[in-house]
Amino acid sequence: MAEDRLGELDEKYVELMSMLEPEAVMRRVVREVPESLDIDVAWVGKPDSDDTLLIGDSVRARTDVLDGLAVPKGVGLGGQVMLTKRPMWVKNYITSPRITHDFASQAQLEGLRAMIAVPIMHDDRVLGVLYGANRYETDFGDRAAHVLGEIAGRAATATVVAERAKESAEVAVYEERRRVALELHDTVGAMLYAVSAGIRTLGAEVTSLVSAPHIKDKLQAIEEQASEAAAMLRGSLRVLSNAPEKVALGVAVREDTRAFQERTGTTTRMITVTELPPLLPSRVRVLSAATREALLNVEKHAHADSVVVTLVAVEGGVAVTVVDDGVGLAPRSSWDPGLGLAAISDRLARLGGNLTVSSGDDGGVSVRAWVPR
Ligand SMILES: Nc1ncnc2c1ncn2[C@@H]1O[C@H](COP(=O)(O)OP(=O)(O)OP(=O)(O)O)[C@@H](O)[C@H]1O
Ligand SMILES: [Mg+2]
Repeated sequence: MAEDRLGELDEKYVELMSMLEPEAVMRRVVREVPESLDIDVAWVGKPDSDDTLLIGDSVRARTDVLDGLAVPKGVGLGGQVMLTKRPMWVKNYITSPRITHDFASQAQLEGLRAMIAVPIMHDDRVLGVLYGANRYETDFGDRAAHVLGEIAGRAATATVVAERAKESAEVAVYEERRRVALELHDTVGAMLYAVSAGIRTLGAEVTSLVSAPHIKDKLQAIEEQASEAAAMLRGSLRVLSNAPEKVALGVAVREDTRAFQERTGTTTRMITVTELPPLLPSRVRVLSAATREALLNVEKHAHADSVVVTLVAVEGGVAVTVVDDGVGLAPRSSWDPGLGLAAISDRLARLGGNLTVSSGDDGGVSVRAWVPR
């Protein structure tokens, strides 16, 4: 019984993880194409680099000539769609004068004639190209492009959500590792320190009581072992508590927001709006310090019910915004300029960044710290 339950949970877990996998999302979306569009074959091309699409995930294909093809930008139908970021279709792929024929032999082998392709876009980024094809000549038109475009739109949203979810799962993993590291530091680290100190005291006492060289030697050996163990522990803790540059900011800010929520009971949400670039540790430290000061200010001045902390890549850098729904800024005249925000502003300016404090949309205060990459 319990085993069944465990198996069920295991399946759910695998399903959940696959939902976090951008690749799996794409595969599921392509599967919809033949039926939605009443079309023979469908597949997807994913950017392998800035200027190549890698073909895969074909559905209802008879051969395996499509999967694994590398299509350079501008070449064939998909390569042109990648280049122009616009839908395109041909009545006959083999003979159409509007495209190059680098892949005519593959189309011939698979028996493809009419082909349509649309870009899968998010903002200005091409996440892939979605293809459909028939084994006979077809006049695809705007309607087919529209239907395929809608599926591509869903694929883009699902891919971006999956990417974010994956990132935030990664942030959670590293946050947990840091927590474990800090706990080990406080427990095992403290114990090792106590052992070393105890042995040192004992050594001094033994020497003053009796002259027992073998006991002294033994104690010294134990002390050395203990300090070796402490050094090893420090090394492992450092590895354990270091997050890779790509998620370091997420981990730090999430720790700050969690600590704030636990301390104050104020509902606090952290949202990562875009993919974040890797940041140097010095930049992560300043943005995290800005987040902490802004949250401390919310605690001291705002009387807020909820706080939202947002991370976003903008203007060639990264911004952290802390917005609360509290009492808002007092009129300028009665402002008591403290040290907190001024100090943060200085630290940001030294890295070429800046701090903006403004009234939030629904009352409250919005504090935005930005650093260039
Ligand atoms: N979230 C907020 N809601 C309402 N008022 C705020 C908020 N954040 C800052 N303020 C106002 O801005 C002022 C300046 O903030 P700052 O952090 O520089 O100083 P402080 O918090 O008063 O003192 P310090 O940070 O030096 O301990 C605050 O005194 C407060 O009046
Ligand atoms: Mg302050």
